[in-house]
Amino acid sequence: MSFAAITGVGAYLPGRIVTNDDLAATVDTSDEWIRTRTGIRERRIVAADETTSDLGAGAARAALLDAGLEPDDIDLLVVGTSSPDMVMPSTACLLQGKLGLTCAAFDVMAACTSFIFALQAAASAIESGRARRVLVVGADALTRLIDFSDRRTCVLFGDGAGAFVLEASEEQGVLGIDLGSDGTKPEVLQVPAGGSTMPASHETVDAGLHFLQMNGQEVFKFAVRAIPATTKKALAASGLALDDLTWLIPHQANQRILDTVADRLKLPHERVFSNIELLGNTSAASIPLAVNDLYTSGSLRRGDVLALVGFGAGLTWGAAIVRWTKEDL
Ligand code: COA
Repeated sequence: MSFAAITGVGAYLPGRIVTNDDLAATVDTSDEWIRTRTGIRERRIVAADETTSDLGAGAARAALLDAGLEPDDIDLLVVGTSSPDMVMPSTACLLQGKLGLTCAAFDVMAACTSFIFALQAAASAIESGRARRVLVVGADALTRLIDFSDRRTCVLFGDGAGAFVLEASEEQGVLGIDLGSDGTKPEVLQVPAGGSTMPASHETVDAGLHFLQMNGQEVFKFAVRAIPATTKKALAASGLALDDLTWLIPHQANQRILDTVADRLKLPHERVFSNIELLGNTSAASIPLAVNDLYTSGSLRRGDVLALVGFGAGLTWGAAIVRWTKEDL
């Protein structure tokens, strides 16, 4: 059996920065409230003519460059997103066309956990011998699904994309993965209309049902339970313990969630990565964007052990334990 290892990492962020003060100019909120309740200071927002696959293409090109590969070298593309360019075709197909890939391409939709589910699909394809080089992209333009007059949600999200190249390797890069879903609570975090339940109509648009709706406190409680539990399960599946972790890299949704998780796991806060201040919640992109930040800042060393941990609508959650096998920058 081949192992899967990360050989390329890339990121792409839209150019427009929207600060808390910018939001406070149009909705009843304040920089102070947003910073103290979430840790977010600013976020990036897609341009009017930019799509999720455009963000993904930027990240994917950077990851290919980092891996030293050409589009023709890739034999599978997996895209994690919950803000697809359109209902069909898949964002992965649109991205495949933009990149000039010729391989099979498909989307994975698990809300903010999409990247971890996509990573599982990619690693499994390599481990089974069905693929040797897989491009895994987490891309979201969730601000396209946000009601910017709803202060409970509009302050939380930002847009972006991150990507990994995974290759067959004699070194085990992807160690254990734990995934979970609980489909009994869809109402906690959902976009009610636009699917087969409530097709688009004047009424659904007038009622704002195409926007993201969230019970923030329920999501918070779920996240601080799910992250420690899935991290421990994935570590156990890897034959490792919390002490072996160099970095815990959770989905970036709220600094208070990250702090609570660090306390519950008794991890020093400086080992729990955070860049939420500058990016907000970028959904499927947040984990590869976090890894890219650590990598490009020279903070990752060959042999480091990373726990990549996601949670989100569904409900879904998951953790991937990864040994960093790239040479030091
Ligand atoms: N600015 C100012 N006030 C706001 C506000 C904003 N942007 N958003 C909410 N409020 C108000 C509420 O209306 C409420 O006012 P009230 O007491 O008069 O009713 C008050 O602030 C407290 O609201 P509450 O919902 O209890 O705040 P909170 O401390 O739970 O923080 C979240 C709200 C959304 C920041 C927090 O619950 C959270 O981060 N949850 C997780 C969300 C998440 O991670 N989602 C993505 C998952 S992938």
